[in-house]
Parts: sequence; C-alpha cells; structure tokens
Amino acid sequence: MKNWKTIDYFADEALVSDPYHYYDDLRDECPVLHLSHLGVVAVTGYDEASEVYRRTDEFSSCNSVVGPFAAFPVPLEGEDVSAVIDRHRDQLPMHEHMVTMDPPDHTRERALLMKLLTPRRLRENEAFMERLADRQLDEILRTGRCEFIHAYAQPFAMLVVADVLGVPESDHDRFREGFGLSRTPGKLGDPDEGGAENLNALGWLDACFTAYIEDRRRSPRADVLTDLARSTYPDGTTPDVTSIVRSATFLFAAGQETTARLLATALKHLAEHPALQDELREHKERIPDFVEEALRMESPVKTDFRLTRRTTNVCGVDIAAGTPVMLLNGAANRDPRRFESPHEFRIDRDNAQAHIAFGRGAHACPGGPLARAEARVSLERILYCMRNIRLAEDQHGSPGARRFAYEPTWLLRGLSELHLEFTPAATSG
Ligand code: HEM
Repeated sequence: MKNWKTIDYFADEALVSDPYHYYDDLRDECPVLHLSHLGVVAVTGYDEASEVYRRTDEFSSCNSVVGPFAAFPVPLEGEDVSAVIDRHRDQLPMHEHMVTMDPPDHTRERALLMKLLTPRRLRENEAFMERLADRQLDEILRTGRCEFIHAYAQPFAMLVVADVLGVPESDHDRFREGFGLSRTPGKLGDPDEGGAENLNALGWLDACFTAYIEDRRRSPRADVLTDLARSTYPDGTTPDVTSIVRSATFLFAAGQETTARLLATALKHLAEHPALQDELREHKERIPDFVEEALRMESPVKTDFRLTRRTTNVCGVDIAAGTPVMLLNGAANRDPRRFESPHEFRIDRDNAQAHIAFGRGAHACPGGPLARAEARVSLERILYCMRNIRLAEDQHGSPGARRFAYEPTWLLRGLSELHLEFTPAATSG
C-alpha cells in the first residue's frame, strides 16, 4: 500500500483530486520532513512554513515556481551555496520575474510594482469590477446554466488585471480574444493583430504592452499606462521598456488563474449549501469571512518553493545547503495546531484570515487586496442576480456521487470546470 514514503508528490495523479490526506500524513510524521523524492524537504506546519517564508537570508526564492526542477549547471555542494545560486540563477526558468528574485533585485522590482497598486488605483479598479461583473453576468444569466470558470471567472479576473494596468476599456474585447476567452467560444484573435492563434497568450501580451509603453513614452497622456511608462525605480533610474512590460505581463500570470480558482471554489461551496446562499444574500457583510475561509480551505497556490542557501535548521530539523524546501500552503492552512477542525468549512471561524494562502514575508502576494475585492464584488453581484444556484448534475453527478476534475498540477489547486445551474433573479442590475 502507498504511504507518504512511497508517494511521489510530483507525479502521483491521485493527489490531484485530494492532496489533504497526504498532507496530514506528512504533518503527523513531522511538520518539516525530508522526502525520498528529489531531495525535497516538505513543510506542512503553519508556524514552520511562516518561519521559512520570513527567513529570506537563508532561503532563496530562485526556485519558487519550479521547485526541485531548478537545474543548476554545477552541483550544489558545501555548507553555503549562495555564490552558486547568484552566479547561475539567470539560467533558471522565470528568473526574470520578481517572484524568483532575492534582495536587492527583488526589493527594486517590487517597489516598481507597488507604485502601481496604490489605494487610489485599487478604488478606481473596484468601481470597474462592479460594472464588469454585471456585464459578464448579463452574458450568462438568460441561459440558466454555465460553465462558470470559462464563462465568468477567467475573463473577469483577466480584465480586472487589464484595468489595473490601465488598458483602455475599448481594448478589452481584444484582450479577451488574445487570451482565447472571447464571448463566442472558439473565436480567437485576429491573426493580423497577433491573436492567440499565432502566439501564446504571454507572447501576445508582451507585444501588446511593449506597444503601449513605447507609445506612452513617445506621446504621454493623462492615463495609467503613461504613469506606468514613466515610473522609476526607488533610486530614480528609469527601467527599460522590457522591465516594465515584464512586470505588467507577470501580473496576468500571477493574478488570473489563482483568482479564477478562488471564485470557482467559492461558487462550488455555495452551490452545495443553498441555505448559505440566502444567508450571504441577506448579510452581505459576511461575504469577506466566507472568502477568507474559501482561501484557507482550498489555497489556490498549494505549493511554493525555496532553495536553502546555507546549511541550517528549521524547528529542530537540519536542512543542508542546496535543499529545495517545499512550502505547502494548502497543508499549513489546515494545520490543526492553528485551525480548529481544519477540514471543516466554517464561515464563523474567528482566525480564518490568518491563513497563508497569499504567502508571507517579502514576497507576500501584492495582489491579495485585489483578489479579495474581486471575490467580494463577484459574490455580491452573483447572489443578487441568481437564485437557487446548484451544481449541474449531468456534469457533476447527484448528491452523494459527485465528481469534479481538478487542474492536474502540483503547484495550483483548483477545479478545471464548474458547471452551474441557477434561476435568474426577477430583477438584476
Ligand atoms: C486568490 C488569488 C491569489 C493567490 C492565492 C495568490 C498567491 C500568491 C502567493 C502564495 C504568492 C507568494 C509567492 C512566493 O512567496 O514565492 C504570490 C505572489 C505574487 N502575486 Fe499573488 N495570488 C493571488 C492573486 C494575485 C493577483 C490578483 C495579483 C495581481 C494582479 C497577484 C500578483 C502577485 C505577484 C506580482 C506576486 C509576486 C510578489 C513578489 O515576488 O514579491 N496575485 N501570490
């Protein structure tokens, strides 16, 4: 029989639908545990994961996305591998994005981004979210059923990021097409405009933002894209166009799938708990607590990584320099030492907001406020416009025999599809 010693976290398909028993087994053995696969140390404890996140000096983010698959051209040997990391990090995947950087480069790139995510920008963006939610719902309400992720969550999360970055609303349809999320499924972007038919979405996005930034540097206007084009590093120097474009496109990568999966988790839970729909419809002020509990229960980034720079010790467990440390947010958020009855979805839990679904420390998700607002606004509008939201039984089976497909990845946790049925409310708007 399989147990934690023989299971390969990176290959075992059984963990895709439910990783939580495995996480519990690891934590019961030890919250900081050496695994037999790929030399990984798995951290399933809440305090332990928070500690690693905070010890930036000792744990590098260079492998945060690719984990144990970060291939260095030389062996990571000795008590301190910092020099090897620094010399070869630009050969690792995603090295150009801030999520894999360490200080001081990380501090510099993050400061550039934080200039964009100002409270004012977020307020303006929230007003846009409300309009967008209604527009998206108008597209699906009449039908009485939808595949929620493609029809609502993905285009919504993508266009929210587009708006934060100042993409004019007149270009939004073009963005939906570029991402293959157009209203008429199957219709992709116009090839002459470099749509997804010819390039992948990130390549398309790159070309699009390069054009925006070059245009605003040549002819400044009173808009967010001009602010972005003219932004400077903390030392006053001007980033090259590529750096700005990279920051902008990374926001789509970081903010779209994660938020779309959070929305899907929330709707799945509501569809299975009709009384909760009424409760939240009547008490909108409880929606934020519901969102925090959804983030805790099904953390969309279930796995994050660090690389140990120097031989060290975490909560009594020795970790050699060069060891990939796997921070299992999805496990830490169900640590019974921190959350009572952790596998129960309780919207009245008094410490749900202590979850680490957005990470911790220097790299803690700067999009957290945005994702929370997206979920709150969406749920308010959905509950207002739809009654009797339920799972489509032809797709997900009947109660007691439900079936769901989850994204087959060890990095993210989320449904691949969510088929809903509902009754449009008599009044909408
Ligand atoms: C439910 C939705 C989201 C979840 C669960 C989530 C989760 C995370 C986590 C766990 C990290 C930390 C990575 C690390 O420490 O290695 C992170 C980083 C990041 N997230 Fe999010 N995120 C979400 C939405 C967003 C949104 C909406 C945006 C922006 C539009 C965003 C932008 C970023 C960026 C730029 C980083 C890198 C920060 C850095 O390296 O300093 N995220 N996110």
